[in-house]
Amino acid sequence: MTELSDSPFSEFVGKHPGEPNVMEPGLISDPFAGYGALREQGPVVRGRFVDDTPVWFITRFEEAREVLRDQRFANSPAHSAGGGNADTPVDRLLEIMGLPEHYRVYLSGTILNMDAPDHTRIRRLVSRAFTARKITDLRPRVADIADDVLRRLPEHAVDGVVDLIPHFAYPLPITVICELVGIPEADRPKWREWGTHLVSTRPELHPETFPEMIDHIHALIRERRAALTDDLLSELIRVHDDDGSRLSDVEMVTLVLTLVLAGHETTAHLITNGVAALLTHPDQLQLLKSEPELLPRAVHELMRWCGPVHLTQLRYATEDVELGGVRIKKGEAVTPVLVSANHDPRHFADPARLDLTRQPAGRAENHVGFGHGMHYCLGASLARQEAEVAFGKLLAHYPDVSLAVAPEDLRRVPLPGSWRLASLPLRLS
Ligand code: HEM
Repeated sequence: MTELSDSPFSEFVGKHPGEPNVMEPGLISDPFAGYGALREQGPVVRGRFVDDTPVWFITRFEEAREVLRDQRFANSPAHSAGGGNADTPVDRLLEIMGLPEHYRVYLSGTILNMDAPDHTRIRRLVSRAFTARKITDLRPRVADIADDVLRRLPEHAVDGVVDLIPHFAYPLPITVICELVGIPEADRPKWREWGTHLVSTRPELHPETFPEMIDHIHALIRERRAALTDDLLSELIRVHDDDGSRLSDVEMVTLVLTLVLAGHETTAHLITNGVAALLTHPDQLQLLKSEPELLPRAVHELMRWCGPVHLTQLRYATEDVELGGVRIKKGEAVTPVLVSANHDPRHFADPARLDLTRQPAGRAENHVGFGHGMHYCLGASLARQEAEVAFGKLLAHYPDVSLAVAPEDLRRVPLPGSWRLASLPLRLS
């Protein structure tokens, strides 16, 4: 595994005393305690992003939600101090990976970097292709894929132990999202590899990854244009607004890239974190086994308790904003810290306790693990459905499944902004 100290970003750690960098060992090794301590310092705390960008951490639940729905914060780096001429994380990534300038548009043009009205237009178009109906209709297929992968799980056991991550947690969501989008089976292992290269602290080690992905999607779009089917890619080609506006090729490429990467990397780690949480909380596991109808609520609680995404995309203040007793100046960056918001004792009673019966207060979803506001996760219902199927089917196939190592020996991937286990060794019976 790559170590943080090898990362080209590690030079920034500790450079500004009193302004913790997201790569700080304390924030990486125990984000619950690390960001929890910042949350108790205040709702808006000064820190640094991986590339040394000054950032305000929004640490508490109410303030995090406020920022996520406040139109005075924009996602486009054009609003960063310096009006887009300053170094942004995208500039840094281009530089580190040694990518030619024309790739900038794919990196900076994702839906997560957009503001209204562009964001509204793209989100409306993609929502026409990615409908709730499509997700619901998919459920039996998700269950079939899970059955299939789970049946083959024992084939991967070594001395009776199998790692859930490569043999179930990844194959399920990657198969689902690739089938949905229309990525041929033969290309799926490549996507798995590309995902791992990009979501790493050493993206510069694989400079070929990004150009390969872009070329691959362009080729796929050309192919599909020639013969439309009923997959999401065909739907994205077909959809248009009432005024006839369509998605451009570049928009489609960045969308497919975001959907496939966001659609499997995160879900795989929700499945892994969730299974680890259940196996280390035998009373909760027992409860779920005896009351399987708790599954949807259990998934909400597991998302709150051990959701895989800890930090959102950076936002930039488009004017001076007073928040939590702090003046955030125009152009300054903020990031709502989902992990500390979801464990904020001001909002959740006894937040460290995993309680699958926890009643969401008034809303179906009472956490910010999928974000909030206009960039709320587009795939949240798909991810929840996959997690429900994954937990339900794993326990149905292997009711006696248990951890093959002591809980304290579970190792995490040392990445800022996310919670990922390096492996999840299990005994199936
Ligand atoms: C946005 C988390 C699964 C596609 C987001 C955001 C979060 C998130 C926190 C908002 C980020 C921000 O505001 O800065 C997760 C988690 C998942 C998951 C924890 C799994 C457990 C998925 C899936 C898909 C997906 C399965 C697609 C199939 C997207 C897209 C956006 C997004 C396209 C951007 C939406 C926009 O900008 O309007 N996700 N996600 N996600 N997610 Fe997910």
